[in-house]
Amino acid sequence: MKVKEILDKAYSEHHLTKDEIKFLLNSEGEEKELLFAYADRVRKEYVGDDVYLRGLIEFSSYCKNDCFYCGLRRSNKEAQRYRMQEDEIVEVAKRAYDMGYRTVVLQSGEDPYYTKDRVYSIIKKIKKEVDVAITLSIGERSYEEYKAFREAGADRYLMRFETSNRELYQKYHPGMSFENRIECLRWIKSLGYELGTGFLIGLPGQTIDDLANDILLVYELDSDMIGIGPFIPHPHTPLKDTEAGSVDLTLKCISILRLLMPDSNIPATTALGTLDPLGRQKGLKCGANIVMPNVNDLKYKLKYELYPGKICINEDATKCRGCIESIIISLGRKVGQGFGQSRHYELKKAVYN
Ligand code: SAM
Ligand code: SF4
Ligand code: FES
Repeated sequence: MKVKEILDKAYSEHHLTKDEIKFLLNSEGEEKELLFAYADRVRKEYVGDDVYLRGLIEFSSYCKNDCFYCGLRRSNKEAQRYRMQEDEIVEVAKRAYDMGYRTVVLQSGEDPYYTKDRVYSIIKKIKKEVDVAITLSIGERSYEEYKAFREAGADRYLMRFETSNRELYQKYHPGMSFENRIECLRWIKSLGYELGTGFLIGLPGQTIDDLANDILLVYELDSDMIGIGPFIPHPHTPLKDTEAGSVDLTLKCISILRLLMPDSNIPATTALGTLDPLGRQKGLKCGANIVMPNVNDLKYKLKYELYPGKICINEDATKCRGCIESIIISLGRKVGQGFGQSRHYELKKAVYN
């Protein structure tokens, strides 16, 4: 069976050609199940049974960009906007620590209100108050800003390139440039952050060929963390009448990426859990090893609406913490203790130092 040959190669070499990736993306039935099983085995062998939790703090719903798919886009006049102040962000980080989180992810729209000095000060204060790893997910900034945030103590940076298809990129990101985004990702890596990137699955017009290129680009960028998730149409965006991405295709992408990048961290994303009530469980069973529950107050959760129907929107942070732990245990896994640094990053550092 051809699929077995490809999977055995991926298992031993962690490398595949574009055609082989496309073959796996098109797999169905038993072949697809075999792909998932191989990915689960590689996950177990390389990153073990620990599932690390990241406490997500969505601190501003303002955005100067206009990405076609996103509910926070500046042209969405119906979006509810809020900004959390410095002390409030630090308080939520402390609360996350008390709930057992050892990483907080500071995420927002691209909001210039949070100047270099403001972000610097937020990072410093959190680091002073609590012993957590800090991941930033605040979009494109200048080299100097990324450098300053790293000096303040930020450990990781998440920024998807969204799609490697230049035409689609231009179409869905007015006023932005693919080249700039990639340059930012290279800067982030050169500054010693743990780098996280990835893409959306199911953007209108995206093909299997595009997805194979997306997977290869994550590989080329040597990502320590891989954030991928299905596109979900938002009613107040230009893509409102299009179809959502496929859960199955997302799971195939997760599996292939786990085979290619065995020691990187891969989350089972909220978008996956939104499209399928068992989406996060399915992700964890085919290569994922991270979950990112929201730790914000309900009043903010409701307003950070990237797409409709987001899970956990009415649950408070303590409830999610308990819920996610029982999900993890029900899968025969356990909640990871400590920072849960990417092994991919750890091993590279050990080689270079
Ligand atoms: N503004 C920053 C950025 O774009 O990198 C960080 C926040 S942004 C809301 C985080 C991610 O949300 C984006 O990378 C995008 O892939 C995802 N996202 C936005 N709209 C979405 C939608 N309609 N469906 C699924 N994911 C979406
Ligand atoms: Fe802004 Fe990020 Fe949404 Fe694009 S994806 S509109 S940059 S919040
Ligand atoms: Fe939020 Fe289950 S993780 S309710």
